[in-house]
Amino acid sequence: MSYFRDNVEQAAGYTPGFQPKATEVVKLNTNENPYPPSPQVIRALAEIKPEQLRRYPDPLATAFREAAAEVHGVQPENILCCNGGDELLAMAIRAFCDERRPLAYPVPTYTLYPVLARLQPCEVIEIPFDAEFNLPAKLATAGAALTIVCNPNAPTGSLIRTEELASLAAEIKGVLLIDEAYVDFAEWDCVSLIKDFPNVIVLRTLSKGYSLAGLRFGYAIADKDLIEGLLKVKDSYNVDAVAISLATAAVKDQAYFRENVEKIKSQRRILTEQLRVMGFAVPDSHSNFVFAQVRNGSAAPIHEELARQNIFVRYWNAPELADKLRISVGTREQNERLLAALKGILSRGGGNT
Ligand SMILES: Cc1ncc(COP(=O)(O)O)c(C=O)c1O
Repeated sequence: MSYFRDNVEQAAGYTPGFQPKATEVVKLNTNENPYPPSPQVIRALAEIKPEQLRRYPDPLATAFREAAAEVHGVQPENILCCNGGDELLAMAIRAFCDERRPLAYPVPTYTLYPVLARLQPCEVIEIPFDAEFNLPAKLATAGAALTIVCNPNAPTGSLIRTEELASLAAEIKGVLLIDEAYVDFAEWDCVSLIKDFPNVIVLRTLSKGYSLAGLRFGYAIADKDLIEGLLKVKDSYNVDAVAISLATAAVKDQAYFRENVEKIKSQRRILTEQLRVMGFAVPDSHSNFVFAQVRNGSAAPIHEELARQNIFVRYWNAPELADKLRISVGTREQNERLLAALKGILSRGGGNT
């Protein structure tokens, strides 16, 4: 007999993107920001006092709540801080789902959702996107306790209109969690919905637009009753003292954040165009990655050859994704190295695009 509950024993667990040890690589596989964090963050790091490490941190991360509330035009009580957006996903599934309370989401999407559901455990209702990645109408009638819509979606980079998500929030009986991990690179967001809908949670992270994936800091924005409920499932000290100081400094430096995001959007435009010229089908992306489909054949040989050249992009060995690569937008130099490598691979007949 196993020590573990059946569902844990049988779970495969989440497979994170490969984290190469070598530093001389072009790492475009886990959607990190290629630019450094704000100088204000580095200053805040240098100013950390030993006393901040000796004591437990503020369980509510009040300094961050206040700074983020100002950025979003909401109250600090509408914000809940977490150890990366992933912790919020785990908390939401723990709070809202069980054997009688299903989780629903459109697919393809972030592959962590079913992994967390399996651990709970709870039933999962997966509803496929159509070819244009429109919001599936069936989500509204799925009867889920928690519906997650990743917007912009990963790995497709597609973006659904705020009004459509407002209609979905109005139709469903359960909670709608809008995973806005990539929204910093999009034209619109859904934060305004929390004022009209007591069942909407917006997920944000500092891992992408703020260049702080290593810090592990994310947050929820929602009606204060939902936040209060979620506080009951939160670990007491889920974000540490260093993370609170640095995350607060990061959100206070909106000028740096905006400049950083604009650089990525402009590189995204160039990368998309160049990949299309090479024959890849690349839908417009609203994220810090592009989703490139080889014209016919499998993307696996290209992925392997790139890795041999120390260029890492994301590939999934799954039937509907096997002809596609998800490529994070890097610096101009990184993108140029990727494009040159791809040209070489394609000219030798690799990948049959
Ligand atoms: C769709 C999506 N949601 C949430 C997250 C969570 O990000 P983090 O835990 O780094 O804040 C990620 C991370 O890559 C993601 O891709």
